[in-house]
Amino acid sequence: MSSWFEPLRIGRGPARLEVTTVPPASPGAAPRLAAASGSVLNPTLRIRTGQQLDFDVTNRLAEETTIHWHGLVVDWNDDGHPRHPIPPGGSRRYSFPMINRGGLYWYHPHPHGHTAEQVYRGVAGMLVVEDHDDDALRASLGLGDGPAEIVAVIRDERGYDPQPLSYVPTPAQRVMGYQGDTLTVNGEAGMRRVVSPGWVRLRLLNGSNARTLLLGFASDGGGPPPVFLVGTDGGLLERPVPLGRFFLGSAERVDVAVDASAFAGAAIRLRSHPFDPMHQEGGGHGHHAPEDSGAVDLLSLAVTAGPPRPGSLPARLSTLPPAAGDAPVREWVLSFDPEAARWLISGRTYDPDDPIRIPPRPEVWHILNTYGSMPHPMHLHGSAFRVLGRTGSPPQVSGLAVDDRGRVATDFGAKDTVLAWPGERLRIAVDFRHPFPGEQRLLYHCHILEHEDNGMMADLLITGTP
Ligand code: C2O
Ligand code: CU
Ligand code: CU
Repeated sequence: MSSWFEPLRIGRGPARLEVTTVPPASPGAAPRLAAASGSVLNPTLRIRTGQQLDFDVTNRLAEETTIHWHGLVVDWNDDGHPRHPIPPGGSRRYSFPMINRGGLYWYHPHPHGHTAEQVYRGVAGMLVVEDHDDDALRASLGLGDGPAEIVAVIRDERGYDPQPLSYVPTPAQRVMGYQGDTLTVNGEAGMRRVVSPGWVRLRLLNGSNARTLLLGFASDGGGPPPVFLVGTDGGLLERPVPLGRFFLGSAERVDVAVDASAFAGAAIRLRSHPFDPMHQEGGGHGHHAPEDSGAVDLLSLAVTAGPPRPGSLPARLSTLPPAAGDAPVREWVLSFDPEAARWLISGRTYDPDDPIRIPPRPEVWHILNTYGSMPHPMHLHGSAFRVLGRTGSPPQVSGLAVDDRGRVATDFGAKDTVLAWPGERLRIAVDFRHPFPGEQRLLYHCHILEHEDNGMMADLLITGTP
């Protein structure tokens, strides 16, 4: 893979991962937590579809942890569910075949009530899964040997320098989510890279605990470069979609192809733009997410001079199974309980002893986010879903819609996390059929990790007959 971010290829035999504490860089700073493999911190793992995976995870923290494989289709016993904690000093083997399509997935802890702190303090890494469609795209784009393919996690960190990663949310931050004041790309603020003219592929994960990003591309001196969305959470789209500004919620991913061939000698920038996530909720609960003062350059690509590398964007990228839009409907309501200062899914907070029973069948879900709420990136374990449409979207979202069903570009393809905006009715097609023995317990939760830890989560028990 031609990437400056060299991933660790997982070969045969078990890979060893340790969840561990890394001493602080400066005296008095909070130690970073890390998933270490050998001496490489938080390795990006590179895997092929069809490969058997075995991970021996050892917990060197003073509290319970688990490792969850975000977006992967695995038996729930290997999914890092909070019911299967690894005690301090203990270890667990996760074993599963990679049955997912190619795509950018990730791994992070999922212990009961402590996910937010462990992820914020550093335990999370990316999983690059490759398949034939992915090989074909890479060859067609002519990414070459240069750093034309970038795999990156965007995060916000509080007090980036010199006191990184202390996690002390106030009560208000527990409600609205813990936001940092510095945006980083693979741990660097204001990242710069040099690329040659031609296609550049950027694969981005929003690994922030709570911050929804509004992203876009710009160039120095000229207009924005041609940008196409080629993939989302669960791999490649069927066809590229032209991409302007887009929202990216916590845990969502995008795979983007940028045509830098006409920008020799210039610079292309990936920018984060300010917006008010609750722009029509004025009054609401009186909690407004802190706003940035202006656009921030996350990544600058200096394009070298010279003739462009050959390459082209294929018209067809992959094939996705059709979404079953006519399955039985289940409705979920996202709301806020001001007394308990907690976010609710259909009036409930997480109760591991009272799972919601669902047959192994396709369903259409309507997710209703109440007006006066905030955007929640809703995530489902265990299977990918498709976005069917949105109604009632706030203007900042409906203004980005690219079809007559109210969908935005990042709604296309196989998804595992989707932003539900205040006032919206979001329709998705899910499928609970699975190849695993026995009942499955899948988590459904908001990926604002403070919301998840505070109970905006449900256990789905896949049981019975369709
Ligand atoms: Cu990325 Cu249940 O989480
Ligand atoms: Cu997940
Ligand atoms: Cu939420």
